[in-house]
Amino acid sequence: MKLIFLGPPGAGKGTQAERIAERYEIAHISTGDMLRSEIRNATLLGAEAKAYLDRGELVPDSVIIDMVRDRIQREDCKNGFLLDGFPRTVVQAQALQDFTDIDFAVNIDVPFERLVARISGRRMCPDCGAAYHVSSYKAETCQKCGAKLYQRDDDREETVANRLKVYTEKTAPLIAYYETQGKLFTVDGDAQIDAVTEEIMKGLDA
Ligand code: AP5
Repeated sequence: MKLIFLGPPGAGKGTQAERIAERYEIAHISTGDMLRSEIRNATLLGAEAKAYLDRGELVPDSVIIDMVRDRIQREDCKNGFLLDGFPRTVVQAQALQDFTDIDFAVNIDVPFERLVARISGRRMCPDCGAAYHVSSYKAETCQKCGAKLYQRDDDREETVANRLKVYTEKTAPLIAYYETQGKLFTVDGDAQIDAVTEEIMKGLDA
């Protein structure tokens, strides 16, 4: 199974991707996590990407397309994969189509007014990428691997506003792109986390 998760920042793509990838035994590929790992490891790519992430802008298409093309060749993708955060532009979607066929694009729909509260309360695990929210998870360490949680630099309010603007201009057109191909499946992301997971699974199983 080859899936894409679409949705604005804070829609719950990462949260749901982790569950769905586990359920269908496919690789969870988050381009945001890959870039943050490059930054933490102080690689050349990380140094280039950091300025874009800090401003809430997209990293250039050419960089991200090469990264994903290489990643999906790995052994853990032989059963399928779930792309979380890619494609984010029509150019990326066309490139993806040139190197593989995807089965479904799951669009997680959440009203914009909910997103800022979700993002500003988010705490992340630097090691396994798990996301938590301060309203429902009070501990300072990751439930899964024990690492100390942190707040992402791009989760500041002014950067979030730009990320939402960039989403509207560059990524939202992909909804129509995949709808035209008959591959789009939209779920209500403004529901309890478990309910959203169930809706996605129901759609995929059907
Ligand atoms: P990326 O890491 O992909 O960030 P994003 O798309 O902005 O999405 P988020 O990670 O903010 O949100 P999410 O939808 O995963 O929500 P989450 O599950 O964490 O990208 C970061 C940056 O990298 C980009 O700005 C760009 O610079 C660069 N980049 C990445 N990919 C790129 C690409 N393809 N091209 C170019 N540049 C790229 O949930 C958020 C919070 O809400 C959490 O606290 C969670 O616990 C909570 N929550 C989740 N679901 C619910 C629910 N149903 N109800 C209540 N709370 C919930």
